[in-house]
Amino acid sequence: MKHAFFAITAMMSLCSFAMAAPPDGAALFQDNCSACHGPKGAGGSAPKLAGDASEWKSKVFERAVLSGIDDHGKPLKAPMPHWKTASFTADNGTAPTKAEVDAIQHYLHTQK
Ligand code: HEC
Repeated sequence: MKHAFFAITAMMSLCSFAMAAPPDGAALFQDNCSACHGPKGAGGSAPKLAGDASEWKSKVFERAVLSGIDDHGKPLKAPMPHWKTASFTADNGTAPTKAEVDAIQHYLHTQK
């Protein structure tokens, strides 16, 4: 029994080593959003996000970023991209994942 426990624990720690590192929200924001939303999401040609959309429920934030619908259910105007039909610079053409969008929101939350 003791052996089985150790075997399972060892397997679990091996699995967590094999898992990809969590997405880097700061780098993703810098590369894909800061040109419009300003350094640290403080605002630029596009609205500030830190202390604003950074505090939305993650589902609402994901919808805004991926589908271009704001917290009131209204479409966001261009040039805000609809990221589900685009790709982050480092992702070679694949659409952003929710984990990446959540990492960006978490980063913005720490900047408010
Ligand atoms: C090319 C410029 C541009 C880029 C790049 C851009 N945005 Fe935007 N974004 C905008 C504009 C402009 C608006 C406001 C649209 C409106 O008011 O209808 C906006 C609105 C938003 C909103 C809604 C804000 C609110 O308070 O209603 C969120 C959330 C958002 N952007 C997140 C992001 C994230 C995250 C990224 C990077 C992955 C990003 N944007 C990249 C231009 C951009």
